[in-house]
This record gives sequence, structure tokens and C-alpha cells, in this order.
Amino acid sequence: LICIGLEGTAEKTGVGVITSNGEVLFNKTVIYTPKIQGIHPREAADHHAETFIKLLNEVSGVIPLDKIDLVSFSQGPGLGPSLRVTATTGRALALSLKKPIIGVNHCVSHVEIGKLKTDALDPLTLYVSGGNTQVLAYTGKKYRVIGETLDIAIGNCLDQFARYCNLSHPGGVFVEQYAKEGKKFLKLPYTVKGMDISFSGLLTASMKKYDSNEKIEDVCYSLQETAFSMLTEITERALSHTNKPEIMLVGGVAANDRLKEMLEIMCNEQNVDFYVPEKQFCGDNGAMIAWLGILQYINGKRMDILDTKTIPHFRTDMVDVNWVVKSTE
Ligand code: ATP
Ligand code: FE2
Repeated sequence: LICIGLEGTAEKTGVGVITSNGEVLFNKTVIYTPKIQGIHPREAADHHAETFIKLLNEVSGVIPLDKIDLVSFSQGPGLGPSLRVTATTGRALALSLKKPIIGVNHCVSHVEIGKLKTDALDPLTLYVSGGNTQVLAYTGKKYRVIGETLDIAIGNCLDQFARYCNLSHPGGVFVEQYAKEGKKFLKLPYTVKGMDISFSGLLTASMKKYDSNEKIEDVCYSLQETAFSMLTEITERALSHTNKPEIMLVGGVAANDRLKEMLEIMCNEQNVDFYVPEKQFCGDNGAMIAWLGILQYINGKRMDILDTKTIPHFRTDMVDVNWVVKSTE
């Protein structure tokens, strides 16, 4: 079985093709970079509309489209306009190829592709990106959100701070570069509430430190140390609640060396394995959408075109897991 996956929940357009053996035949993601300010939902949607066509043309150069057996698309969570373009592209493709269609949950896709591309079997997953910050675990036959941000996502916090300091997009990359040169630790708000965290106070305080002429290197260093300690703390607590044997880090912020280092230290102390998938499968990508489509389809899930409406607030635990998940429970 060959499945094509369309990812377009936010500002990245991704198309991936994967076989039921887990072999990735195509996987390409194109980022929409706004010229000024943040992402405008309508402009991100326009970017998807243009880019899906380009990427589908590229796919047809690698795999004839009539070889595709199944169309999968990201049904949510995400920005309404982006999701609508993605679903429309999926429907048009499925109808023209006369193939079945399936809409999948973006967050669960991150976990399943991570498991496919690493040796993780039953990980506690820390998913950190521009739009999401969640600790996920499979318990009681569902993927559950064990902890999450109460306001903005960690990637968004780094990006907003970077934009405030006139650094380029994606901000997380530039904050990391400056942080490596930072020496002085500045005290910033550390907000952990049980299993949940909050970044908005940290963001505002970091901006104030920058305004008060602290060195940008020191502010970036302190921002990272504080935010990543918060993430490590809730991940460690989730581990003791769930007793999972391993931790997996996914999402665009997983590219950060310091975050990986902190989690690695914690995993060593807790004696659990630590996994990070290779970069193309960490950030948003089409292959992960295709892979979850395959898992659901081969285990009997079917969708009518009328079921393919977008779900902007698609919660991770709304997904009925109909495929086999190895669990240590
Ligand atoms: P989602 O739709 O899942 O929320 P996304 O659209 O934010 O994802 P990703 O590629 O998963 O896309 O993540 C992008 C985020 O990762 C941005 O906020 C970016 O600043 C951040 N990022 C990328 N590289 C690094 C890095 N080295 N350190 C910290 N953050 C990084
Ligand atoms: Fe994502």
C-alpha cells in the first residue's frame, strides 16, 4: 500500500509518500516565511494552495500518481484557513485519483512517525514546536496529553522574543546561537503548575531584560535555561506518573542542542532511553501524515468525503487508536 500525506496545519506545507512497510519515497516541506510580523492565517493558506500544486508535481516525477492507493491529510489541530486548503487539496486528489481518503490528527502523527523512525516503542513524548507544547503518553488505549502549555508554545515564545530583538525567522535558531555565547544567568519567571507550564510571563520578562540593555547573549541564554528547565521538569514528573521506559523528543524545537542535553541528563539519571528522530521527521512533514493514514486504514478505518471536515481543535485524546500500540501498561 502506498499513501500520500498532506500536511498543512499552520505555515508549513508538507507532502510525503510512504509505503505500508514504512519506506519513505518522498518527503518535502516548504516553509512560508512572513515578510513582517507573525503568520497571517489567510496568507499561510494562500501559500499552501500554491505549494501543494508544486509539491504534487514534484511527487509525480518520482512516483506516478496512479500508483498511490490512499490519500491522507492533516485534519487538525491548526489554523482554520490552512486546514481548509489542506482538506480541499486532499479531497480533490482523492476524487481525481478515485482513491480513499483519510483525515488524521497532526499531534498523533508526530508520535507515530517518531516511533517508526527510531527504536522507541512506547515513549513518553515531549512535542515542542511553534504551535504546540505537549507531553504525550499512550495510556488507557489513547494517546493522552499528560501536560501542556497553558498559553503559548515554546517555539512561539522563542520566535516572538527573536522578532522583538529583530532577529530573523525561525527565531529559535538565532536564540540558540546567541545563547551559546551567554554567560550571565538572569533570573526570569519559572512557571510550572503541576503538569502544565506557561511561557507568556517568561516572554514578557525576557523582552524587558533586553530593553534594560542586558546583553542579548545573556538574555537568550537565560531564556533557554529557564524554559528548557520547565520542560524537563514536567517531562520528568510525567515519567514518574506513567512509568514509561523511554522518552522521545519531537517537533521543530527538538533541533535545539541544549534542550536535548538537558533531557539526556535527566534520562540518564532516571535510567530511561532517549530518542530524537532525524530532523525531517521531527518538524512538520507529509510523511508523518501519510504514515498515520496507513496505520488507521489498514486497521479498518474508512472515511466518507462528508467526514473530511476540518477539526481546528482536534485534541490528541479524541483519536480512537485502532492500530496496535505496544504498551508497557
Ligand atoms: P506545529 O504546527 O507542530 O506547531 P510548526 O509549524 O511550529 O509546528 P516545526 O517545524 O515543528 O513547525 O517547529 C518550528 C519551531 O521550531 C519554530 O518555533 C522554530 O523557532 C523552532 N526551532 C527550530 N530550530 C530551533 C532550534 N535550533 N532551537 C530552538 N527552536 C528551534
Ligand atoms: Fe507539528
